[in-house]
Amino acid sequence: MKILVTGGAGYIGSHTCVELLNAGYDVVVVDNLYNASAKALDRVREITGKDLTFYEADVLDAPKMDEIFKKEQVDCVIHFAGLKAVGESVVKPLEYYKNNINGTLVLCEAMRKNGCKNIIFSSSATVYGNPAFIPITEECPKGTPTNPYGWTKWMIEQILTDLHTADPEWNVILLRYFNPIGAHKSGLMGEDPKGIPNNLLPYVAQVAIGKLKCLGVFGDDYDTPDGTGVRDYIHVVDLAAGHVKAINKIKENPGVKIYNLGTGKGYSVLDVVKAFSKACGHDVPYEIKPRRAGDISTCYSDASLAKKELGWEAKYDIDEMCEDSWRWQTMNPNGYED
Ligand code: NAD
Ligand code: UFG
Repeated sequence: MKILVTGGAGYIGSHTCVELLNAGYDVVVVDNLYNASAKALDRVREITGKDLTFYEADVLDAPKMDEIFKKEQVDCVIHFAGLKAVGESVVKPLEYYKNNINGTLVLCEAMRKNGCKNIIFSSSATVYGNPAFIPITEECPKGTPTNPYGWTKWMIEQILTDLHTADPEWNVILLRYFNPIGAHKSGLMGEDPKGIPNNLLPYVAQVAIGKLKCLGVFGDDYDTPDGTGVRDYIHVVDLAAGHVKAINKIKENPGVKIYNLGTGKGYSVLDVVKAFSKACGHDVPYEIKPRRAGDISTCYSDASLAKKELGWEAKYDIDEMCEDSWRWQTMNPNGYED
């Protein structure tokens, strides 16, 4: 079976390519390298000892996408390609709507034209907005995202669902990720954010290695055990493995399916700082700052549906997530750059 992975050179995409190749799938990556390096794909080859096909292309480029689908005879698409910086999306809504929504429309048109009607989409817990209940099951109603990035996920879920309604031959699996962190055990692949990181883990890792001075903890007056925000952090390799399970599911022609991919456990910002300090062997300095606009207090999953229907559950705990992030950070202090 041949799987086309859009955004396959990115953080989650590259880890998923490893799991796909290890499971015996043929892999074709389409990535414009806007937020990634082709070196990540070399590392995929190094880790697996297998090759994949790479097109440096934009999913918005309709003729190119048509050409790729004609040539490759793809069975299923995993659609990671998109812009993902929450704060930037508030400042550049048009860029986010254009890239994420139009990119998905162009991709789906090329798929339809070439008879590929199986798609697995990278959605996010952000579609729950401020969740109606915790732990969050898939039954939890979609809420109101607080930024354009979140709305693109919300809207793309609807677009793909409508596509199935219009033509039931389409199979759509919406995977709602919680907070992916960690890195490949080899230390060869991990998250490589450009500039100052927005997300907690890469920020903590850069403080730990001395590139940044001090972590700002955004708020200590939330209604949580220690007052700091609680999230469901999930190891990126567990997340990647969830995609391989989703491909097994899509082979059953399931129509539209939605799964949370999380661990079902919530950790506070200070829990993460503690686990990371243990992994790196010294304290990570932090100071309490005001709350960050748009943040919610608590977000963690009920991941039992994915266990029941996909036979998937997360294996790695917060300590291993931090150890693996630290290994990647120390082995590659400048990410994929030389
Ligand atoms: P990433 O930025 O590392 O990966 C996205 C990849 O898509 C990059 O390699 C980028 O170059 C590529 N890309 C972007 N626009 C493109 C275009 N028009 N054409 C071709 N390639 C394009 O991000 P990631 O963390 O690996 O996230 C992957 C997906 O998962 C994204 O859709 C993201 O929104 C979603 N997601 C991520 C998180 C998270 O916290 N990392 C959480 C929930 C959902
Ligand atoms: N935080 C800090 N200091 C920082 C960065 C983050 O205290 O420097 C806190 C936040 O306030 C929050 C927690 O750490 O309580 C996690 O923040 P992240 O920015 O790492 O992650 P978010 O939960 O805000 O958002 C992430 C992704 C979104 C995705 C969402 C749900 O960035 O794309 O998870 O999956 F939608």
